[in-house]
Amino acid sequence: MLQQRSSLLASSLASTFRRSFLVQTSSSAQRCRRAYSIHADASVGTKILDIDPSKLSIEKTTTPKTLLPPEELVFGRNFTDHMLSMEWTASEGWLPARITPYQNLSLDPATCVFHYAFEAFEGMKAYRDKNGQIRLFRPDKNMERFNKSAARIALPTFDSDALIDLIGKFVKLDQRFIPEARGYSLYLRPTIIGTQRTLGVGPPASALLYVIASPVGPYYPTGFKAVSLEATDYAVRAWPGGVGDKKLGANYAPCIVPQIQAASRGFHQNLWLFGEEEYVTEVGTMNLFAAIKNKETGQKELLTAPLDGTILEGVTRDSVLGLARERLEPEGWKVNERKFTMQEVSDASDEGRLLEIFGSGTAAVVSPVRKISWKGRLVECGLEDNQEAGPIAQQMKDWMEEIQYGDEGSEDHHWSHKIL
Ligand SMILES: Cc1ncc(COP(=O)(O)O)c(C=O)c1O
Repeated sequence: MLQQRSSLLASSLASTFRRSFLVQTSSSAQRCRRAYSIHADASVGTKILDIDPSKLSIEKTTTPKTLLPPEELVFGRNFTDHMLSMEWTASEGWLPARITPYQNLSLDPATCVFHYAFEAFEGMKAYRDKNGQIRLFRPDKNMERFNKSAARIALPTFDSDALIDLIGKFVKLDQRFIPEARGYSLYLRPTIIGTQRTLGVGPPASALLYVIASPVGPYYPTGFKAVSLEATDYAVRAWPGGVGDKKLGANYAPCIVPQIQAASRGFHQNLWLFGEEEYVTEVGTMNLFAAIKNKETGQKELLTAPLDGTILEGVTRDSVLGLARERLEPEGWKVNERKFTMQEVSDASDEGRLLEIFGSGTAAVVSPVRKISWKGRLVECGLEDNQEAGPIAQQMKDWMEEIQYGDEGSEDHHWSHKIL
């Protein structure tokens, strides 16, 4: 592990960082009147060497793991034989990538990731289609977000195509872990951490990017199960000018207590509201969609919160929006990225205009919502008692899976990235 970095380098980087931070802050302030989130366009330091997939070295495991029966897979508990990793130093840039047996990291207790949360990650999946071909789903979107997250916490950025290429090689090597059956996939966890050994607060002069993979089963093995939510009004997940739109580990730990609180009252997840207006933002670790009938016009609208810097830019969110614009708008739907309040949702429910609500995310694709606890009452979200999903949630899941698994007619969809 690369840990010995000179303090001289760190302090020169720190001043570069301070300078670029100031420039970025003032230029983003000019771009938008209210800066909801810093536009961290590039990381600190000069990128001397970018990732070069041709330099990859592979050391195969000599003790391959026994595959678990697919029905025993638990999300994020089991990992494949190997991992992909590459180190970065401020003086050299990205060093050659390595695929090695899956193994522990060895880091000094003073490593900056442990103290100041220099960590960003991604969540994406590899799917096996009916011909055995392995496919990634919109990996370019994950890489784009990964780069933005890393840059925001002064970690290095990288060439997205190069990392997709390396991830493809890693997944191909461990492809025996992807079960054949529909609904199964290989969850991929690209992670980047600051590895400089220092308690000084500043931009890390070294970093480690690694990717691990975990075989996963269908989120709903026996079909959809609609969830109930508790609207959280005593805590917020993200705020204007914060980092809620970045996938930083630091965003997740503080969300667990409200989640435990909701669970203690019998709810599956918590719904994050924001501000005195009680804007509906996200649900647990998913984006949220509401299908309502417009009060004035009666037109059906698919609503989701806008990307104002407080919402994670979900790949599934973007895909649901894309599919809805392509396939629902011609049927008379209006697709709307706008702020909407819990009061609006509650009114639509009371007036019989709330058609359905669902979360969207890589893990489940969509997660239908039955009811929301808010201000001491239960807001019904449009499902009949014997119904576990509304038609739009069901349709979206089917459309997305057709593309993810390269079904007939969707084999060459531009969102599906075949691993060669
Ligand atoms: C806070 C949050 N919102 C939304 C999402 C959904 O994002 P995606 O569709 O890219 O999985 C996630 C999942 O990663 C998340 O953690």
